[in-house]
Parts: sequence; structure tokens; C-alpha cells
Amino acid sequence: MAYLNENYLKLRAGYLFPEIARRVKAFCDANPEAAKRLIRCGIGDVTEPLPEAVRGAMHKAVDEMGTREQFRGYGPEQGYEFLRQAIAENDYRAHGIEVSSDEVFVSDGSKCDCGNILDILGDRNVIAVMDPVYPVYVDTNVMAGHTGEANESGAYGGLLYLPCSEANGFVADVPAERADVVYLCFPNNPTGSVATRAQLEAWVAYALKHQALLLFDAAYEAYISEPGIPHSIYEIPGARECAIEFRSFSKNGGFTGTRCAFTVVPKTLMARTASGEMHPLHPLWNRRMSTKFNGVPYIVQRGAEALYSIEGKSQVAALISHYMGNAKILREAAVAANWPVWGGVNAPYLWVRTPSGLTSWQMFDRMLQEANVVITPGSGFGSAGEGYFRISAFNSRANVEEVARRMAALTK
Ligand code: MLT
Repeated sequence: MAYLNENYLKLRAGYLFPEIARRVKAFCDANPEAAKRLIRCGIGDVTEPLPEAVRGAMHKAVDEMGTREQFRGYGPEQGYEFLRQAIAENDYRAHGIEVSSDEVFVSDGSKCDCGNILDILGDRNVIAVMDPVYPVYVDTNVMAGHTGEANESGAYGGLLYLPCSEANGFVADVPAERADVVYLCFPNNPTGSVATRAQLEAWVAYALKHQALLLFDAAYEAYISEPGIPHSIYEIPGARECAIEFRSFSKNGGFTGTRCAFTVVPKTLMARTASGEMHPLHPLWNRRMSTKFNGVPYIVQRGAEALYSIEGKSQVAALISHYMGNAKILREAAVAANWPVWGGVNAPYLWVRTPSGLTSWQMFDRMLQEANVVITPGSGFGSAGEGYFRISAFNSRANVEEVARRMAALTK
């Protein structure tokens, strides 16, 4: 008989989004008429078609694959040089940030990378996460055996939770305690908050002081609209010595189904062995990718490269402006309903306080049953999310306008 990974048995309930899908399905099966009106503003999944520049590049790549001369088999596990170059040049060097193409690792998603990164980290780290938190950071640490059991509010023993609240604008302050690994996500999923330069400087100073590693998830970077907000942790001096950055084409290029993302591991980033020897992390991640990954398909990488063309950039800008137009409509609807709201300005998510003291799941049920709108309960992101819910702006304009009307009707 094989032994299983008992850490999985510590996981609470299902992963948040499958759990929501299960509840929505049960509601739809029981209410087929209401199911026809259902609008999903739960999971942050894009709805708009792939940009034309991407489709054109992918068609061309498919044709190349149909010729003996240009056919490609296994590609480099780290990503094709044409895409690594385009990323380093456009996302970093064009903004005065030092990142070389061989520090960029192309992958099939930031969610995967955020979990896989634990392969190269030891198991004695003190791990800090913001609360509320993107559940993947927590659950992957549970799976890896880095936590104890969950308590009744769902918090796992051994993790350092950094509370985010209205008082701190949903941006965690640096803690008094030492952590070895800190997950930061800005623009934030789920609250839509962003960190100022001064706040990120404080985090980099903290990491350098404690020789900690910052895992900086910038998947929603393209949604930053206010000037002066850092788009990359590497805008902060010293970050090359303490941070890994995750980025994705999912939310800017509409690649949630197409799958392409990247992780930057600076060659200057070090971590230590139990006996205190310092080693760079870059070769470890390179080794991990070469051993466990065969690279993103050539056709997909050509599509991602096209996002950096002149047409691609303007088509991405149009997508962002579409989703942020949705966010504005939803924000106004929440304000009109007298529901205190955050986010939706530099992020495609709105974070809303539940009315009348409802719990997050009670509000989920109310929105589902009375408005036939799916939202995400804040408590699914951690105990500090209780009493809030998240609305995703990823939708068609018509659906978002209809959601705004239903929110108004709900509060009449
Ligand atoms: C979300 O809704 O939080 C995101 O879609 C999750 C993800 O990107 O994995």
C-alpha cells in the first residue's frame, strides 16, 4: 500500500473557486429559470477575445510548425529567447529596471509558479502571508508540509498572517517578527489595493535586514492606472538581492486559457543552507524548470511575444480599459447602494463590505439567490476577509451593466 502526502489532509474544504462552482451548480440545478439569468463575477477569468495581434502571430506559428524546415519539437525549458528578450526589454529595461533575459523564466502560469517555487526553498522557513490572501500561497505551503493544522477560523499553525484591514488600506505593514519568506501581491488579489513606493521600500528594507525572500506577485500590474505606483518590485533599489517576481499574460493579454506567464529570478538573489552557506537561487530554479518542465508551446510563446508589438500593446490597452470601465460601473453601483468599497481603481477587483452585518457566505447566498450574481466571499481568502466580498470586473459590458441594475434593485 502506498503512503499518501498527509499534508493534503490538513487542507480546509475545497480550493475556493471549485467550491464556489459546486455551490453555484447546486443552485442552478435546483433553479433552472434563475440559472438562465446567472451572471458570474466570481473567479477573475477574462471574457474578451484574444487580441488580433496574438491570433495573427499564433496562426503564423502554426503554419511554421507545418513545414519541415521550421517545425519545432521540445523548446528551451526556460522559454524561447525571442520571448525572454521581449519581456526583459519591454517590461523592465524600457522602464530603467535591470533584468536580463536569462533571468526571465517563461512558464504556463503564475499560479503554477507561485506553488512550484517551493521546490527550491527549504522547509524551515517562517512564511508570511497577507490576510486576506490569494489562497494558492497558503494551500501550496500546506501541501509542502510547511504548516500545522488549521484552526476553527481556517488559519494554519506555523504561518505568519499579516492582517490587512480598512485601517491599513489593505496593505500589510512590515511585522515586528522575523519572516524568511514573504508573499506580496500588488495590485492585490483579492482587495485591489496597491502598495506605494514607500511601502515597498519598507518591505525591501525588511527583507534585506532579515535576509528574507519576497515573493512578489505582480499578475495584475497592467491594471495600475495611478501615476507613481510601482509596477515591479525591482523598481525598488535592493530588490534584486531579495525578491522573485511573478507576472502573467493571463489578465493583460487574455491568456487565462492560452497559458503563458513568467518568473524573474535575479542572479544576485541568494539563500542559505541549514549550515549557513549562501547559494544563488537562479541555478536552482533553472534546474527545477529543466527537470520538471518542458516549456510553453512555441505557438503560445509567439502569441505572447506579439503582445509587445505596437498593435499588441494598443490591443492590450483596449482590453484593460474595457475591464477597468467595468470596474468603474461596479464601483459606482456599490457606492450608490451604500456599500463601502475598495479597489477597482488600479485592479480589476472590487472589495466590498457586506451590508447589514451579513457574513461573506450569507452575502454570497443573497447575491446568488436574489440577484443571480456570483461573487466571491471574502472569508474564502482568509479570516480577515470575513464581512467582505469580492466582485470581479472581468465580464462583458452588458453583463456588468445588468449586475449594476440588480445591485440597485437589491437595495431598494
Ligand atoms: C481569481 O479569481 O482570484 C483568479 O482568477 C485566480 C487565478 O488567477 O488563479
